[in-house]
Amino acid sequence: MLDGASEDYGHAEPENVLDPRHFAAVRARGKSLRALPLWCYTSERFFEAEMQRLFMPGWNLFDRLDIVPNRGDFHATTFMKVPIVVARGNDDKVRAFANTCRHRGALIAKGDGNCKAFRCPYHSWTYTLEGKLMGTPNYNDLDGKPVIDASNRHEYGLIELPSESWGGFLFIKFKKSPGTLAEHLGDLPERLESHRLEDMICARRVVYEMDANWKCFVENYNDIYHIPTVHKDSLARWQGTTIEEAPPTGEYFCAFVAHEGGSQLLLPLPGYDGFPPMPQIREERKKGTYFVSLHPAMMMTLGNDGALVFRSEPISAKKSRLTVSSLFPKSTVERNDFEQIAQNYYRRNSLVVQEDVDISLRQYAGLMSPFARIARLNSSETLLNEIANWILDRVIGPRPTA
Ligand code: FES
Ligand SMILES: [Fe+2]
Repeated sequence: MLDGASEDYGHAEPENVLDPRHFAAVRARGKSLRALPLWCYTSERFFEAEMQRLFMPGWNLFDRLDIVPNRGDFHATTFMKVPIVVARGNDDKVRAFANTCRHRGALIAKGDGNCKAFRCPYHSWTYTLEGKLMGTPNYNDLDGKPVIDASNRHEYGLIELPSESWGGFLFIKFKKSPGTLAEHLGDLPERLESHRLEDMICARRVVYEMDANWKCFVENYNDIYHIPTVHKDSLARWQGTTIEEAPPTGEYFCAFVAHEGGSQLLLPLPGYDGFPPMPQIREERKKGTYFVSLHPAMMMTLGNDGALVFRSEPISAKKSRLTVSSLFPKSTVERNDFEQIAQNYYRRNSLVVQEDVDISLRQYAGLMSPFARIARLNSSETLLNEIANWILDRVIGPRPTA
């Protein structure tokens, strides 16, 4: 055992944060399960390794495809500190680009809008919605000849990021790397087929700027142990039974919890009337709620009437951004009483999600103490060890097989 870090499991950040010996207790599994050492939640060097080895080359939930519903629509934002613009091209395909002009780097787009082409506001270079460079006004060499012409124009298009979609969600990578989105998802699309996520509309999006490492909320979502305490007057009111399912073949955890009446997207309390179950949903799926945690940072609570989607976005070791989206079937959103009934779902979210946000922030505030030490995991926290190992498989490499 190394001095310090492994023994007290505290903050002492080791010199080499990638030395596998620091993680021996996490890797060991067996009866005594551990989450990651505390410095993995505060170390900028460990965070940087997560960015480079896990987030940049992996599939990350970006947003819904309907953020750009029509040809020519664009949406510019910053995701994981990188300026990105997504655009729906004239071929109806949604592409994600690095939002940086190939001349001198200016953002080529800001906010949301619709255009026929992007024109950089600095020196008027223009790009098609598909990212091709079109015009470079008066960009001539010292001898008066164009620097960019038909022979090299293709080298100066916007930088396109690998992207793929499923269920109406757009996923992106920041680097080319092996592995398709289908491989990442495994059998998840099959399991959720009857929820028809692709026919859903995001009716509301709430963003929380978190003074906490991105893993805190992901772990909170996968920790069943906190429910009777943190949600004692809300979620804990549901009486549910977890139904055994075949293990996933993709990079995710899932659990189907059967429960009586209504939807877990609401609460079993007076005043929480909801929408009827979706007509196409499989009979057995009508009777409960599906919980999905897709690595590294997308989580979904799927009722028989819609879905609540969470994305924990890493910003730095000590900051993250949580985006919570309420999805409903298009046919539900078109109901005359949609806005009125949807308020019950939003009220439930502002209560339950706030409980999780508050406790995650409170945990992180305490975890920052130099005296913080963490205990072993109990039998309802086992997924935290699975998460830790999934992260380590990417950050320090696969666990050696015995
Ligand atoms: S920086 Fe975009 S045209 Fe110059
Ligand atoms: Fe919770």
